[in-house]
Amino acid sequence: MKLLLATRNRDKISEIEEILCGLSLEILTYNNFPDLPEVIENKDTLAGNAEKKALESAEFSGIPTIADDTGLFVEALKGAPGVYSSRYAGENCSYKDNRVKLLSEMKGITNRKAQFKTVVAFAFPGKVIATTEGIVEGEITEQEIGDRGFGYDSIFRAQETGRTYAEMSDKEKNTISHRARALQKIIPKIISHNSDKK
Ligand code: IMP
Repeated sequence: MKLLLATRNRDKISEIEEILCGLSLEILTYNNFPDLPEVIENKDTLAGNAEKKALESAEFSGIPTIADDTGLFVEALKGAPGVYSSRYAGENCSYKDNRVKLLSEMKGITNRKAQFKTVVAFAFPGKVIATTEGIVEGEITEQEIGDRGFGYDSIFRAQETGRTYAEMSDKEKNTISHRARALQKIIPKIISHNSDKK
């Protein structure tokens, strides 16, 4: 079965490919569909954005699609940056800009609790088949730690490992991450669709 990953982000593509490998899927990405119109992520929930992206991309490509939307929810900031994690420091900002802004907003705050959440949606043209969620509890560090990964990786310390995502190998991050957890839950839905088609 062909499966479209609704992203161009190379970091995410390699993470997702590693998690889905072994499922006999032919994985395509937005790079295979250069004319695909940009999906506007204008919903105020992760699920709303993931489902919109999966549905619109499946409709355009004609291929079953999975799309994800992720947010970092910081308790002391009432859930910010949350759904707006990609543009926390403004439109067209860099990952670094976002980290700098978050560390500055957290200056002097002792409650550093945060959670990373991903929602993954699996859709066919015209229908969302399933939506799953993965959550990892952790905290915002006082400064950047580690040099791997992307986004907020170097300032998010996962509770269960006591280290930031940026200190973990790809394999280790893929074992515990919010995205991995949401993807693991969607795999049975993909498999059951795949076997329906045989
Ligand atoms: P998206 O919905 O997956 O594009 O994620 C929104 C934003 O959250 C991204 O722009 C990144 O800044 C951040 N983000 C998403 N996934 C991760 C991750 O695994 N580690 C660190 N930051 C992430």
